[in-house]
Order: sequence, then structure tokens, then C-alpha cells
Amino acid sequence: MTSSVRVGVIGLGAIGQSLLKAFTTHPDVQVAAVCDLDASLAETTARPLTALAWTDHRQMLDEVELDLVYVAVPPRHHHDIALDVITAGRHLLCEKPLALTLSEAQDMQRAVQAAGVVHALNLPLHADPGIETFHRLVEDGRLGTLRRAELTLVFPQWPRGWQHNPWIGGREQGGPIREVGPHLLHVILTTLGPITRVWAHTEYPADDAVACETAALGTLELASGLLVVVSCLTNVPRPEQVSLTVYGSSGTAGLVNWAVPVAAVGQAPLEPVPVERTQVPAGARLVQALVSRVRGGPGNLVDFSMGVRIQAVLQAWERSSTIGTWVDVVQA
Ligand SMILES: NC(=O)c1ccc[n+]([C@@H]2O[C@H](COP(=O)([O-])OP(=O)(O)OC[C@H]3O[C@@H](n4cnc5c(N)ncnc54)[C@H](O)[C@@H]3O)[C@@H](O)[C@H]2O)c1
Repeated sequence: MTSSVRVGVIGLGAIGQSLLKAFTTHPDVQVAAVCDLDASLAETTARPLTALAWTDHRQMLDEVELDLVYVAVPPRHHHDIALDVITAGRHLLCEKPLALTLSEAQDMQRAVQAAGVVHALNLPLHADPGIETFHRLVEDGRLGTLRRAELTLVFPQWPRGWQHNPWIGGREQGGPIREVGPHLLHVILTTLGPITRVWAHTEYPADDAVACETAALGTLELASGLLVVVSCLTNVPRPEQVSLTVYGSSGTAGLVNWAVPVAAVGQAPLEPVPVERTQVPAGARLVQALVSRVRGGPGNLVDFSMGVRIQAVLQAWERSSTIGTWVDVVQA
């Protein structure tokens, strides 16, 4: 009989708890240890799982035999904790964005390559059937010559209602471009190709030097020459909108509500496009791929090289917002 994949989880906030459910419901996974700086959170999470509870991830790594570690702490801690996991020789799933800076992200990529461990970034839109349908709409030529794309991010409030933590509304680690941007940058990079340079303008609250952006506007220039116009707005009385539209000379394709594909030929209105494959919850899809890869089998994961590419765009975005001119994206 094949033994269970032994998993440890570091960071038990909203996102750690959410993916923990996907780990615990997988028949081949044993969540052996959980870790959070908040001891009572670690204890209450560990008890029903008969897992060990830790407040120090290094002790957990030293004392528990684990195959895979999931790092779900705030972005500022991804780099250091991930390096400890890699040094301990464990396979690694890390939350997005991969790191706080491009150099940290590159460091993490070098470390996983040198250690030869399975590594993945948690981007739930990856392998989503709606996104794959959108990808086919763009690829199959029905749009004609691609003329322009638009990414729209609107949030009635930021932080969103389900986010209760001290960093998500902060400039250092939080804000919608860092938090939501990686999901859509991943779709753009995999569907439309490399991003070569960025121009961005960011609005911050005038009376708060550490708060994250309330609005941003920018343009991504792709290697193909296509321009993606980005508009991000928070705290407006509108429902949440996360959408991407690609305009071609003969048709239009897009995503609405994150992952619902829409398309139109000529001047017809945009209509939802049926999605062929059954929708498996993103967490279950990810855990299945991780289990397979840890056992040496196939598995469709977003690896750290994509994390580095996304981080390079975020870094160029921030730099452009600071200096006000186009900034080249470092190509990984
Ligand atoms: N993949 C996604 O769709 C998605 C969505 C939202 C957020 N995220 C990412 O998930 C990560 C976690 O987000 P969240 O909203 O759960 O954050 P959170 O602040 O709610 O939870 C983080 C937890 O980590 C713990 N922690 C912090 N430092 C620690 C350390 N050194 N050792 C152990 N525990 C530590 C905190 O006590 C807290 O309980 C972030 O990187 C965020 O960007 C991913």
C-alpha cells in the first residue's frame, strides 16, 4: 500500500485554513503538523486533525517527518520560511505573490532548483476550465488580429469583507495590485505572452503614508506589441468586477467574474461561452497534482519560474509608479 503524503501547513489564516480543507479531504494526504505564531489557533486547528501544533516552523521542520510543506503566511515572510523549508529538503507549496521583491523571488527559484524539490505557487485560476476555454478563444484565430486588451479590477471595499488582517490594506505587502494582480498576470502571461514593459500610475490616500493604493491605472506592453490597459479602483459603490477583455479585428473574447469566459463575433453582444470540462474545486485540483508530483508522477502545477515572472511585472509596476515612466520588465 502507498503511504500517505505527510503535509505540514505554516500560516493558519483565511487562506491557510481554506486550503487545509482540500488537504484534509484528500484520501492520500495526512496533515501531520500545523504551525502558526498564534498558539491557540495552531492548537484548535491541529486537534480535530490529530496533527501536531507548532508556533515555530523551524522546530516543526526539525521534529516532524514531512513530505510537503504549504507556506500560507503573509508575503513578507514567504522568502525566509520557504528557504527554511527548502533547506530541510521538503517539497513546497507557497502562496502568491511568491515574495515581496523580485530578488527574493529569484533567490527562492534558485534554491528550489538546486534542491530539486517539487515547488508550486497557489494560483487557483491555473487549469481552471473557464480560463482554458478563454485561452482557446484567443488562440484559435477567431478574433482576427488582436488589437487591445483591458483588465478591470473594481472592489467596493478594500480589504474585502472576508479579509481581516493587519497587512492586506498596507502599502508594504497588501493592496489589490499585489494581491489580485498575480492571478490575472498569470492568465495574461500564459494566454497572451510575455510582458516586456510597464507604465503605471498609482493613487494612495493623501492622509496615510502606509496605506495601500485606492486606485491604479497602467499599461502592460507585451512582446507581441499588444497593449493591455489596466484599471483598478477600490471603495466605489459598485459590485466587485474582475474582468479581462481581448479585442480583435473580427471578434472579442473575455473573462468576467474572474473565470467565466465570454465571446462575441463582429458587433454581437458578449455572451457566455460553455465550458467543456467539469469544474473540480481549485483546491482539490491543486492537492491532487501535488500528491502526484510528490510521488514522482505527473501533475500540472504553477512552478516558481512563473512566480518570478509575475514578481518581475509587479516590481516594474511599482517602479513605474514611483518614477512616472515606462519600466522594462526583467525577463526571467
Ligand atoms: N491563492 C489565493 O487565492 C490567495 C488569496 C488571498 C491571499 N493569498 C495569500 O495567502 C497568504 C496568507 O493570506 P491570509 O489572508 O490567510 O493572511 P492572514 O494574515 O489572515 O493569515 C496568515 C497567518 O500566518 C500566521 N503567521 C505569520 N507569520 C508567521 C510565522 N512566521 N510562522 C507561522 N505563522 C505565521 C499569522 O499568525 C496568521 O494566522 C498571503 O501570502 C496572501 O497573499 C492567496
